[in-house]
Amino acid sequence: MIVLLITCFAALLCPAVHSADTSVAWCYHKPTCNFTTWPKIASHYCNESRQSPINIVTASVQGNSNLTSFNFTGFDDNSTFLSITNTGHSVVVHLDDAKMTVQGGGLPGLYMSKEFHLHWGNGSSSPGSEHTIDGKQYPMELHIVNVHSKYNRNVSVALNATDSTGLAVLGFFIEGTSEVNKTKSWDILTSFLTHIRNSRNTNGDIMNQISLDSLLEGVDRTKYYRYQGSLTTPSCNEVVIWTVFKEPIKVSHEFINRFSTTVLFNDTSASVLITNNFRGAQPLNGRVVMSQVSRASIASSTLSVIIVLLLSSLCWL
Ligand SMILES: *[C@@H]1O[C@H](CO)[C@@H](O)[C@H](O)[C@H]1NC(C)=O
Ligand SMILES: *[C@@H]1O[C@H](CO)[C@@H](O)[C@H](O)[C@H]1NC(C)=O
Ligand SMILES: *[C@@H]1O[C@H](CO)[C@@H](O)[C@H](O)[C@H]1NC(C)=O
Ligand SMILES: *[C@@H]1O[C@H](CO)[C@@H](O)[C@H](O)[C@H]1NC(C)=O
Ligand SMILES: *[C@@H]1O[C@H](CO)[C@@H](O)[C@H](O)[C@H]1NC(C)=O
Ligand SMILES: *[C@@H]1O[C@H](CO)[C@@H](O)[C@H](O)[C@H]1NC(C)=O
Ligand SMILES: *[C@@H]1O[C@H](CO)[C@@H](O)[C@H](O)[C@H]1NC(C)=O
Ligand SMILES: *[C@@H]1O[C@H](CO)[C@@H](O)[C@H](O)[C@H]1NC(C)=O
Ligand SMILES: *[C@@H]1O[C@H](CO)[C@@H](O)[C@H](O)[C@H]1NC(C)=O
Ligand SMILES: *[C@@H]1O[C@H](CO)[C@@H](O)[C@H](O)[C@H]1NC(C)=O
Ligand SMILES: [Zn+2]
Repeated sequence: MIVLLITCFAALLCPAVHSADTSVAWCYHKPTCNFTTWPKIASHYCNESRQSPINIVTASVQGNSNLTSFNFTGFDDNSTFLSITNTGHSVVVHLDDAKMTVQGGGLPGLYMSKEFHLHWGNGSSSPGSEHTIDGKQYPMELHIVNVHSKYNRNVSVALNATDSTGLAVLGFFIEGTSEVNKTKSWDILTSFLTHIRNSRNTNGDIMNQISLDSLLEGVDRTKYYRYQGSLTTPSCNEVVIWTVFKEPIKVSHEFINRFSTTVLFNDTSASVLITNNFRGAQPLNGRVVMSQVSRASIASSTLSVIIVLLLSSLCWL
């Protein structure tokens, strides 16, 4: 009874932690704490109206000429991966934020790259991406988390500022391919999973072997969707400018399968493999998804102008 009272008081007195990893024991794999419960167990901010991920309906995407190409700095540098960690919810690679930046692409300023992590299903045949395109879910999704330069590389400060553009997350879909050893970088990355099987295991030997460019090989980074949203894990802060690239990264089925067969959830009562660590699509609530103004729409609008001109000149004859 006393323990219960203390717990109740602690819950009342401690305000919601403004951090991605809250004190709330949220999860993906149990009915008491999976993502359908987050709006209740982590109401700040998981119950709000600009949540991520979303299903992108391509027919409703609006063209925006501000969505130009990005400038990526340090993405070709092999010395930027500092360590790889099993957080108990995902696998995170910490990046050297002094070497890696992202700007352009319609973002309001310069952003420093902090980390990337992944979301997956259960092997390459059971999909686990967070965003979906016209209802299609990809096998995996990679998220590169970047923080606006005005926050001195400190994500906690950006989350606390409740600035809707504090973070810029770059999302890449991963698609399975039957080609073997695609790619060497994904082989190296996934070979580290056996070293971080348990929650909170971390390994620093990943230094000087892989660049982010090599993991993103083959993706045209000038083609992407843009919308305003949130972190996809509690506390779901609505501080993220989302970029979701259209083209997927192609990775051998074999390497994709390593994720759902190697690393374990943070579960004190059992050893449970991390599978299906994605949040389902959230309501758009009137938000607009934007993309590059397509050539087709430029061509058709140019064509209609020509037709109108032709028709009006005919009237004068
Ligand atoms: C989440 O838990 C609810 C019960 O709280 C259950 O109905 C639902 O199927 C679970 N969903 C997933 C994706 O595990
Ligand atoms: C979300 O929950 C918080 C606190 O639990 C509450 O103050 C807020 O009004 C809720 N927001 C919505 C949109 O329901
Ligand atoms: C493009 O950016 C400018 C400057 O931020 C803004 O005024 C304009 O509304 C934007 N255009 C679109 C189509 O969003
Ligand atoms: C991107 O880099 C190019 C070449 O370094 C530079 O001319 C351009 O101004 C940069 N664009 C942005 C948005 O930073
Ligand atoms: C994942 O797939 C394996 C092998 O196909 C299966 O044994 C396991 O039950 C699946 N796990 C979940 C959570 O669906
Ligand atoms: C980020 O800022 C918070 C609050 O000012 C501080 O407690 C924390 O140590 C900072 N983190 C880093 C990595 O500097
Ligand atoms: C969060 O913001 C509040 C109010 O702006 C401030 O008092 C507090 O120090 C900030 N906390 C952190 C960790 O930055
Ligand atoms: C794939 O990589 C492994 C280990 O690096 C190598 O033994 C094998 O020959 C490679 N297979 C192909 C088809 O390249
Ligand atoms: C990065 O590491 C790979 C081996 O994983 C090597 O082939 C490549 O030359 C290195 N690139 C640079 C710029 O050092
Ligand atoms: C792991 O779960 C335990 C018990 O639920 C919790 O106390 C701990 O904070 C969690 N650790 C992480 C890294 O989430
Ligand atoms: Zn994520």
